[in-house]
Amino acid sequence: MNGFILKGDIIYSKNREELLTFPGSYLVCRDGVSEGVYRELSDMPEDLRSFKLIDLSGRLIIPGMTDLHLHAPQYGFRGLWGDMELLDWLNIHTFPEEARYAELTYAENAYKIFIKDMVITSTTRFCAFSSIHREATELLMDLTEESGLKAYIGKVNMDRNSPDYLCETTDESYEETLRWLSDTEGRHYKNVFPILTPRFIPSCTDELMKKLGELIEERGLPLQSHLSENKSEIDWVKELCPWSGCYGDAYEGFGCFGGHGNRTIMAHCVWSGDEEIGLMKKNGVYIAHSPSSNTNIASGIAPIRKYLEKGLNVGLATDMSGGTTNSIIRIMTDAISVSKLYWRLCDETKKPLTFPEAFYLATLGGGSFFGKVGSLEKGYELDAVVLDDSKLETPMDGRLSLAERLERYCYIAGDSPVEHKFVAGQKLF
Ligand code: GUN
Ligand code: FE
Repeated sequence: MNGFILKGDIIYSKNREELLTFPGSYLVCRDGVSEGVYRELSDMPEDLRSFKLIDLSGRLIIPGMTDLHLHAPQYGFRGLWGDMELLDWLNIHTFPEEARYAELTYAENAYKIFIKDMVITSTTRFCAFSSIHREATELLMDLTEESGLKAYIGKVNMDRNSPDYLCETTDESYEETLRWLSDTEGRHYKNVFPILTPRFIPSCTDELMKKLGELIEERGLPLQSHLSENKSEIDWVKELCPWSGCYGDAYEGFGCFGGHGNRTIMAHCVWSGDEEIGLMKKNGVYIAHSPSSNTNIASGIAPIRKYLEKGLNVGLATDMSGGTTNSIIRIMTDAISVSKLYWRLCDETKKPLTFPEAFYLATLGGGSFFGKVGSLEKGYELDAVVLDDSKLETPMDGRLSLAERLERYCYIAGDSPVEHKFVAGQKLF
């Protein structure tokens, strides 16, 4: 039996609205899974007390966070090109850069930088698009596996409306997907899993979408894509799939919109109407809320309060590099900020997200896509990060609650490297 105890100031979500806080308490890990948090050593079952104690007194210990949507080959241009809307941004900047990942030496250098930087964030799990290139995708999966982070990673499918230098034939796209899936199986990864990744409806023919839908039915694979991000994109989907009731219904028509126990992530959902919301609810689709990206490329503000009221699955996402930051903590504070603008400018019945709600979305909200992930409660896979707020001096020191210390850290130090990270009980540093 393999275990350890972390001592420190522990915080996790009790539910969507409330935080649980445990000052100077003990978080126990056995075989990668939480055995729960104890306020005193003497409260702990006797067999756990012999585990090695790691004393992190004075540090904040929180669950690892999940980034539900990002584009690894876009990492290199974070912070650039935020002066366009989606379709121009893709054609003018994004597609030429992604095309470079045909070249493995370029991909290796870029993905090493991406992983090195991800390791020191609060993120323990992520869901990523690579590019259409199978070999570079497998390289990204190998590097992620070695890093100890856990991730779903997808080879992107694109067989129409794309420049020649970043476009596959339908057969090629499907065959390369099959080859990638079988290569992935052969590598017996512990930390990374494949996820089908049609870029979005405009980039994929009906025939390819149907084939991917059949793969989901045969193999129960998860899928990630984009939905209702930008108004011109939505109009285009209506032209491409005139039979569909809404963009989500177009995915549904191809068997690519969750349901039947198949897990699906849709990034953005800025402009989803009632029909689309109903379909997402029925099918358990996860919404990857990406406020940094939605602001940078001027897509709009997703009505997250409405989605939460309707009981939809929502997690947070950087959407690098529509989004600029690799920090889900930064995305939490962005999500709160844009929800305030939505409330003030768009709909005063939709009250802003609170800090505990944003924390929930960053941890349990997205983590649940991976199973029992995103909490420190007994029975959850033990993903934890340790934050040092001791250098953020304030005359209020000693008067702040744990929840206030965490909130303050997130706002003023949200993209600082974390001090320690554990993923499923494995200490990365
Ligand atoms: N829709 C299709 N491709 C993309 C992409 O790379 N980024 C974003 N934000 N939206 C997309
Ligand atoms: Fe995206």
